[in-house]
Amino acid sequence: MSVEITGVRPTRIDNVFTLAAGPEEWLATLSTYPEGALQYGGKLYRPWSPATSKLSSMILKGMQIPLNAQSRVLYLGAASGTTVTHVSDIAADGIVFAVEFAARPARDLLRAIADRDNVIPMIADARRPDLYPPFVDHADFLYQDVAQPDQADIAIANAEKYLASGGYAAIAIKARSISAGGDVKDIFRNEIERLAERFEVIEKISLEPLHHDHMAVLCRY
Ligand SMILES: C[S@@+](CC[C@H](N)C(=O)[O-])C[C@H]1O[C@@H](n2cnc3c(N)ncnc32)[C@H](O)[C@@H]1O
Repeated sequence: MSVEITGVRPTRIDNVFTLAAGPEEWLATLSTYPEGALQYGGKLYRPWSPATSKLSSMILKGMQIPLNAQSRVLYLGAASGTTVTHVSDIAADGIVFAVEFAARPARDLLRAIADRDNVIPMIADARRPDLYPPFVDHADFLYQDVAQPDQADIAIANAEKYLASGGYAAIAIKARSISAGGDVKDIFRNEIERLAERFEVIEKISLEPLHHDHMAVLCRY
């Protein structure tokens, strides 16, 4: 990318910065990996688009995502690793357990994280956390982005098995995977009520317009 960075500002999240490029501002993660990175002040920053990452969108919309450099993250719905690599940049001294069940994105995920030693990929079904490999340890942050009809149940099952008490979960709810025809507001309300049976719901924000019919929910276990 041949773009000139004119300034860099920290955000409240470790290793996440706002880059200024002339009149434009982008979210970016401080990285030690050169792929897709821009240089400024002798450091590498990887732009993090809210259009391709719901987590980037949540942060830009002001959600108080409690990630830091030491975070232990259970990431459900890793896909090809676009967002996983940014979470790996953020949790530089922590660990990211990245769960994906589809073979094609999993292949790309393995390539994307090949040089990263803080990401543990798992080809597994997030609906069955009881079947994850035995090396999976507790997490203090759960991130979930899976297109499934039972999204709240998946978050609860994973939290029960792996999330520390008082740990946080940020869940991107995709209404149209739960019901193709129902009213979106009712779908979100039902899903959040289900989450509230096991979590304290702290914040909810719509991810419109970049992620249509998606709502982000931040909860504490
Ligand atoms: C919207 S994509 C995730 C995008 C990704 N989080 C990112 O920001 O780059 C959803 C992913 O969840 C995966 N997925 C859906 N259901 C799953 C399940 N039960 N277990 C594991 N992965 C699942 C899909 O295969 C797909 O790759």
